[in-house]
Amino acid sequence: MAVQRTLSIIKPDAVGKNVIGDIIRRFEENGLSVIATRMEHISAAQAGRFYAVHAERPFYKDLCTYMSSGPVMPMVLEGKNAVNLNRELMGATNPKEAEPGTIRADHAESIESNAVHGSDSLENAAIEIAFFFGDLDLHSH
Ligand code: CMP
Repeated sequence: MAVQRTLSIIKPDAVGKNVIGDIIRRFEENGLSVIATRMEHISAAQAGRFYAVHAERPFYKDLCTYMSSGPVMPMVLEGKNAVNLNRELMGATNPKEAEPGTIRADHAESIESNAVHGSDSLENAAIEIAFFFGDLDLHSH
């Protein structure tokens, strides 16, 4: 299985619950390395650009308001099968449907305040990584 990179964002609800460390521990214990990160407080306009693919969805405006409601922690994860492995560790978008033991089952409040974002494909991972980080910010180890 190829080594891949994917984007994860620890969302405002999880940052506010002080579970950054627990979430990163799950990534590291499952073979993913954090190769770039920083804390940011993005604007609703920035969130709107990040989630532009959802612009026509009824939840778009609320999603942008929510993602700009407090600090977030975007990070690049690297490892074998990183895109799908991260999605498995996150669990389903709606925490009510997330498998027990996943990040969203354990930490998410609702479909909107769902603790983490993760890229849904290798193609989108490259786009989403470039949204937050430049090549010089990425440090494989
Ligand atoms: P995320 O993986 O960050 O990608 C888009 C986000 O939109 C998603 O997580 C949810 O937080 C949110 N979302 C998706 N579907 C809905 C929905 N039906 N209602 C509200 N928010 C949603």
